[in-house]
Amino acid sequence: MHSLRKDSTGNTPNAKTNITKMIEGRNLKPYIMNGKEFEPCQSKEDVIQRYDNWASAYDDDMVVERLEAPQAAAEYIKAYVPQEERVRARVLDLAAGTGRMGKELYKRGFRNFDALDPSKEMMKILEKTGLYTNKVVEFLGKEETSLPSNTYDVVVIVGGLLDGHAPVDSLIEMVRVARPGALICIAMREIYLEGLREFTHHYQPLEDKLEQERKWVKLERKRFPNYYRGEFGVLFPYKVL
Ligand SMILES: C[S@@+](CC[C@H](N)C(=O)[O-])C[C@H]1O[C@@H](n2cnc3c(N)ncnc32)[C@H](O)[C@@H]1O
Repeated sequence: MHSLRKDSTGNTPNAKTNITKMIEGRNLKPYIMNGKEFEPCQSKEDVIQRYDNWASAYDDDMVVERLEAPQAAAEYIKAYVPQEERVRARVLDLAAGTGRMGKELYKRGFRNFDALDPSKEMMKILEKTGLYTNKVVEFLGKEETSLPSNTYDVVVIVGGLLDGHAPVDSLIEMVRVARPGALICIAMREIYLEGLREFTHHYQPLEDKLEQERKWVKLERKRFPNYYRGEFGVLFPYKVL
């Protein structure tokens, strides 16, 4: 007989998803945020509803959960962009959430930020930072967004490119909005590379295709500690050609 007792994620044990099963052996909960599972099959509207509901608590939760990915991406971007160019460099923060990336880059000398995120409530918190000029409430995906082409010096996405969120096809849109010579910086949890459909099947083929088409060149694959709950993250930086 199944027990209806809830586990630490708030789910009943017999309602566990494949992702939960996949990670159980590692004692990790990489696909669980705010005690909720984000499932690959969820509709994008449902995902956004979760972020809308979470927005007011998100920043405090991320301190407790030790999400330090924005700091790691900001350090990489700082090292890439010469000091004298940082103030005027146009930065596009995709899946910007509450604007933690902007805050980290501001500390490192950047001043010129635009943001895209489909969650209105996350955007309301981001607006309060006062750092971002254009705030676009749209989904990043297969379709073109309303963002201008050939514009940004830095395009960054932290924690936004994963199943149920922005799909791997978004790489094409990132290249479109970046100007030649720009840096595209993608950060994600390392465990996603092994376990989530979007990456195991789609990421590398599209990454390679864009390289073969001379749209970008991959600079490196950089592993860094303390991405989330002390687990490793990975940065994928690309130079746009
Ligand atoms: C884990 S949060 C990361 C927020 C922020 N980058 C940070 O590091 O704190 C993921 C964000 O992705 C956004 N998101 C979800 N689906 C998306 C999509 N299709 N396109 C763009 N952003 C999306 C959510 O609204 C949420 O703000």
